[in-house]
Amino acid sequence: MCGIVGAVAERNITAILIEGLKRLEYRGYDSAGIAVIDNDGQLSRLRRSGKVAELDQAQTLEPLSGRLGIAHTRWATHGAPCERNAHPHFSSHELAVVHNGIIENHQALREQLKDLGYLFTSDTDTEVIVHLLHHKLHELGDLATALKAAVQELHGAYGLAVISASQPDRLLAARSGSPLVIGLGLGENFLASDPLALRQVTDRFVYLEEGDIAEIRRESVRIWDLNGQDVQRETVQHQDGAEAADKGEYRHFMLKEIHEQPKVVQRTLEGRLGDAQVLVEAFGPQAAELFAKVRNVQIIACGTSYHAGMVARYWLEGLTGIPCQVEVASEFRYRKVAVQPDSLFVTISQSGETADTLAALRNAKGAGYLASLAICNVATSSLVRESDLTLLTNAGPEIGVASTKAFTTQLVGLLLLTLALGQVHKRLAPGLEAELVEELRRLPSRLGEVLSMEKAVEKVAELFAEKHHTLFLGRGVQYPVAMEGALKLKEISYIHAEAYPAGELKHGPLALVDSDMPVVTVAPNDELLEKLKSNLQEVRARGGQLIVFAAEQAGLEDGEGTHVVSMPHCHEVLAPIYYTLPLQLLSYYVAVLRGTDVDQPRNLAKSVTVE
Ligand code: M6R
Repeated sequence: MCGIVGAVAERNITAILIEGLKRLEYRGYDSAGIAVIDNDGQLSRLRRSGKVAELDQAQTLEPLSGRLGIAHTRWATHGAPCERNAHPHFSSHELAVVHNGIIENHQALREQLKDLGYLFTSDTDTEVIVHLLHHKLHELGDLATALKAAVQELHGAYGLAVISASQPDRLLAARSGSPLVIGLGLGENFLASDPLALRQVTDRFVYLEEGDIAEIRRESVRIWDLNGQDVQRETVQHQDGAEAADKGEYRHFMLKEIHEQPKVVQRTLEGRLGDAQVLVEAFGPQAAELFAKVRNVQIIACGTSYHAGMVARYWLEGLTGIPCQVEVASEFRYRKVAVQPDSLFVTISQSGETADTLAALRNAKGAGYLASLAICNVATSSLVRESDLTLLTNAGPEIGVASTKAFTTQLVGLLLLTLALGQVHKRLAPGLEAELVEELRRLPSRLGEVLSMEKAVEKVAELFAEKHHTLFLGRGVQYPVAMEGALKLKEISYIHAEAYPAGELKHGPLALVDSDMPVVTVAPNDELLEKLKSNLQEVRARGGQLIVFAAEQAGLEDGEGTHVVSMPHCHEVLAPIYYTLPLQLLSYYVAVLRGTDVDQPRNLAKSVTVE
């Protein structure tokens, strides 16, 4: 989703801003722009629809130079993705603003500002901010004072960066519902919507909190909180991040991230396993006491993270008997919910900044939940900061828009949660926790074995390259795995893919099956295997082409219209983690064959920070 970079320095900051935008490309965008106060004290701007590379090229032909500037990648919400709507937006060549988020009352503000004589040149909600700020600046004189007054009139979500030709020594920022972080340098300071954008220039960061306004100068940073009080926010030193910037030997970040899974699953487990049990305190010092009170679990997430939640429901109810509901955040947040007594509210998110998930968490506060737990990959995210308990998934930065290692590490985190709750409530079958702890220890190396099937999966991908539709089938806990496989395929190959519980086939979707409709399924050696085999017969009888990732012992073999890829043996409980990997590889290789933009698929953003 949209990205912001800003800088104030003694040197020319154009290259820093462009490099920052390149590092934010993974978030998804459709246009980009940059504005600086140039050496004559004038505001200069360059904008392009399309890639940052085009903006960069334009910048070499018409060089911009300045010591104060802001830049933006836009993911269109209000107004088409074109140069006219790209940020930064200007007011009277005096002020420039970049904005992440959505201003809900933009229409009313637009009318008021038009009455005041302001001319609009874009269809965006952002342009009202810059004109409103211009109006306030001329009323109040000081840029920070004007920004504080302007944001009072904005309804909705914003992360803002502002520069003014009349006050060229400072960069202003405001955060409400859209993250911003200040990067600290020596005699220079920076701003971004994601610290990754600034790793080239600093490893020291100050995260703005909800309602904060900041004034960033070369030698100082001043922050006011929601109530206008001067505040000091903690400086955080980042150690990681360098690994994310580089694809290494891989052609795409997605492939690199698929192959990182053994290593990052190992990291998710580190410090969380005792000899024969899960360490409950891994969820926080008060976790044991809190978990003892839990009688129900409510899981909320979006997209891939929602699929992880669906797997967890099978684990929680099947292994511990603790009831569990799972819902997508965008629905949950607008529903009147009957809260079950003693419910633990669990959010799952790679980014920790997904607008719907955050809103659901905020609504849940005061609604009668026992406590909130975030299973999240970003330690500094809003979700983590606003939750009572956290389990970090430690997958490292995920750059590919299609989530891969985030999903498998979420599954590991959710299995740890299941075992921790089962342990505290003494609900696990005798010996099961020790058995699964042992299996978890072996998991990283076994995932490495699954990845060694890559060539076989690449071959199967050839069956898809020309197809337009696909069905994914799974039964029981493998149904959400099938959903995740279908989501991956549609996201990056643009092939229409639907997932069904295999038992539902004859209730409708079977009508779609013919020789042009590949049907992908996962068939571990579990108690539903025989039922699944019958469903596969139904497909074959209609001429459907089957691609089956099957346990060696499943008794499924290659044959006319059936392609079986054999999977190494795994424990039934951990099967969703193992069987996810070939589906990730499958969608990756189909996308490569179709020549799509694997890491930045069209219309999608990495972190969905607006509704
Ligand atoms: O950062 P989150 O886990 O909260 O993101 C949720 C979804 O937007 C995300 O999983 C999305 O569905 C991915 N593109 C899936 O690959």
